[in-house]
Amino acid sequence: MSETEFDLIVIGGGPGGYYCAIRAAQLGLKTACVEGRGTLGGTCLNVGCIPSKALLHSSELVHETGDNFAKMGISVGDVSVDVAKMLDYKQGVIDSNTQGIEFLFKKNKVAWLKGYGKITGKGQVEVSGESEGTYKAKNIVIATGSDVAVPPFVELDEERIVSSTGALELKEVPKKMVVIGAGVIGLELGSVWHRLGAEVSVIEYLDQITPGMDGEICKTFQRTLKKQGLDFTLGAAVQSVDKGERLTVNYKLRKDDSEHSMECDVVLVATGRKPYTEGLGLDDMGIELDNRGRIVVDQHFKTRLDGCYAIGDVIAGPMLAHKAEDEGGAVAEIIAGQAGHVNYDVIPSVIYTSPEVAAVGKTEEQLKEEGRAYKVGKFPFMGNGRAKANLVADGFVKILADKETDRILGCHIMGPAAGDLIHEVCVAMEFGAAAEDLARTCHAHPTFSEAVREAALACGDGAIHA
Ligand code: NAI
Repeated sequence: MSETEFDLIVIGGGPGGYYCAIRAAQLGLKTACVEGRGTLGGTCLNVGCIPSKALLHSSELVHETGDNFAKMGISVGDVSVDVAKMLDYKQGVIDSNTQGIEFLFKKNKVAWLKGYGKITGKGQVEVSGESEGTYKAKNIVIATGSDVAVPPFVELDEERIVSSTGALELKEVPKKMVVIGAGVIGLELGSVWHRLGAEVSVIEYLDQITPGMDGEICKTFQRTLKKQGLDFTLGAAVQSVDKGERLTVNYKLRKDDSEHSMECDVVLVATGRKPYTEGLGLDDMGIELDNRGRIVVDQHFKTRLDGCYAIGDVIAGPMLAHKAEDEGGAVAEIIAGQAGHVNYDVIPSVIYTSPEVAAVGKTEEQLKEEGRAYKVGKFPFMGNGRAKANLVADGFVKILADKETDRILGCHIMGPAAGDLIHEVCVAMEFGAAAEDLARTCHAHPTFSEAVREAALACGDGAIHA
């Protein structure tokens, strides 16, 4: 095989693409990954999950010093924030993560083709950029991810009217920020700037925040964020943003069509993301898109073009890095002749606010709609010794189990380390466990995880500490 011939070319070096490339190389395939951004890791590592977690962590510490420290008898005087230094710290986190992927490519002998790829024939990718040229491969995987979906009424300048990318780069704390959209991005990044001192108002089209989450969690979560100082206007459609010395966000209340406006210094547009397929040559290759612009694939991730697959945000399903990773691993295994598979019933989702919110499986609303008989086991963190000791006892664990068989159908957590706690339930669900299996598993004391066990106990005879 020559320098320009591969078993597999992956287009896109984000969590779906790089994961797929590394797995394929581990399975013995000669693999290349096309990525045009100067660094590997895609949106997630460069302008998404990782940098936002750096700012969520640092801003949470600022909040802790001003809130819980005094209650614990720690006095630190006035805490000040140096935004420039905080952004440097965030950049350091990005660099070490993206360089880590570059190291993994070298270690696994994945060739990084620097530039942007276009499919110009069956098994043929044309790269424009540093590694310019035409490359051949037995298989192609499209993993080009997603981009911000900008509503038609607004134009981003990434300084005052920002997407998540600009919101990770603000040079100073705005006096007032309006967030359009109460989804994950709006709430995570709204929380960051609120903790750093901005007044934050969230305007959401629907009558609830975080659409798709369990209804009870949504309500409690909104109450908690409100208590922290975030302001919510629900059932309101933003219509336009006027630019002057300050920005004016104009919106209409859906219940009575009344028109209102809100002034601010920065607008964060967090109204969703769209699959990124521009410039890939899909039309010419007869690769079909659905009505939401997502590449149509079969259950083995195959597109309409022979030997061409697609994974991650660019196909249907939740736009989550870990879903893309799982699909990347599965498609690499399929191409290598193994039985790659993704269990879409057990894909957790996490909102990294404080407290965190995490979910896996069905919501109560979904079970009701399906007419499935279920039981609910709930446990508040107020009954968890460790949560009380750490002054983080807001929230609860809720487990939904089949009424007859006790099999776990879903779990919803709002509370400390929810994003980590959810995984014992994921493992249990992968094994088809009953709530009783979790309840009978010894959990170390004192840990937050005891709240999960107590919720499982509550599916049976009852929790002990409630
Ligand atoms: P989203 O789809 O989660 O939420 C967007 C919200 O904006 C919706 O609630 C929608 O009703 C509202 N909206 C739309 N147009 C509006 C208007 N004109 N006026 C008022 N409200 C309006 O989108 P988001 O938060 O931008 O996230 C995009 C994707 O990125 C999601 O798929 C999300 O799952 C993913 N993501 C996941 C993260 C995580 O797992 N922690 C972190 C960041 C993003």
